[in-house]
Amino acid sequence: MKQDGGTEAAKRKAGRVAADRVTDGTVVGLGTGSTAAHAIRALGEAVDAGLDVEGIPTSYQSRRLAREAGIPLTTLEEATPDVAIDGADEVAGFDLVKGGGAAHAREKYVDAAAAELLVVADPSKLADRLSHPVPVEVLPDAAPVVAERLRALGGDPDLRAAERKDGPVVTDNGNLVLDCAFGPIDDPAALAGDLSAVPGAVEHGLFVGLADAVFVGRDDGVEVHEAERSEASE
Ligand code: A5P
Repeated sequence: MKQDGGTEAAKRKAGRVAADRVTDGTVVGLGTGSTAAHAIRALGEAVDAGLDVEGIPTSYQSRRLAREAGIPLTTLEEATPDVAIDGADEVAGFDLVKGGGAAHAREKYVDAAAAELLVVADPSKLADRLSHPVPVEVLPDAAPVVAERLRALGGDPDLRAAERKDGPVVTDNGNLVLDCAFGPIDDPAALAGDLSAVPGAVEHGLFVGLADAVFVGRDDGVEVHEAERSEASE
């Protein structure tokens, strides 16, 4: 997607500053999208300079970018991510809507497995309340019945159409995506629970309680918001 220079610069700053947080000897979940791509490129440069990390991609796109950047890859069978860096379509506090690139199913299980999730964004993503349509990945045969359930939950589902391909978007997992507008979402955790319970829905794009820090690129630097977590007793 074409971006204005300011937005792209903000994404770049956020991605690079988040990548600086990655320490030697760690495993990193590699998010999808244009902002996470900046973090992946920055990590590649750090690897060139001697940083020892392994990446776990969340999509075909991030796998390819990581390979190009020279980041060694691993899988969840072999390693658990210490940190994940990922973008978002909308950020309200530490709650997110993701899935603009239809990668939210893999993003969610990699981001959730990581000890820490760093979200990277430009200021246009920030909102007081989530209201962006929520992408719901569905098994292809289940699309009509999932759409009916989403309507019953107060949503307005729309099958995502592909660009430069006739018909719908098909995800990296071979599924379809319903973009479901709910208007302003008062209780993201409750809606996330309802969406998770819909038979035939593989994963939805509400990420609640997963983000540990949000990096927002600004003209004069990067604003970092850290979530307060109660320390587990050791
Ligand atoms: C991929 O499916 C998404 O979750 C992206 O992380 C999200 O759409 C943000 O993408 P951009 O950084 O390109 O805006």
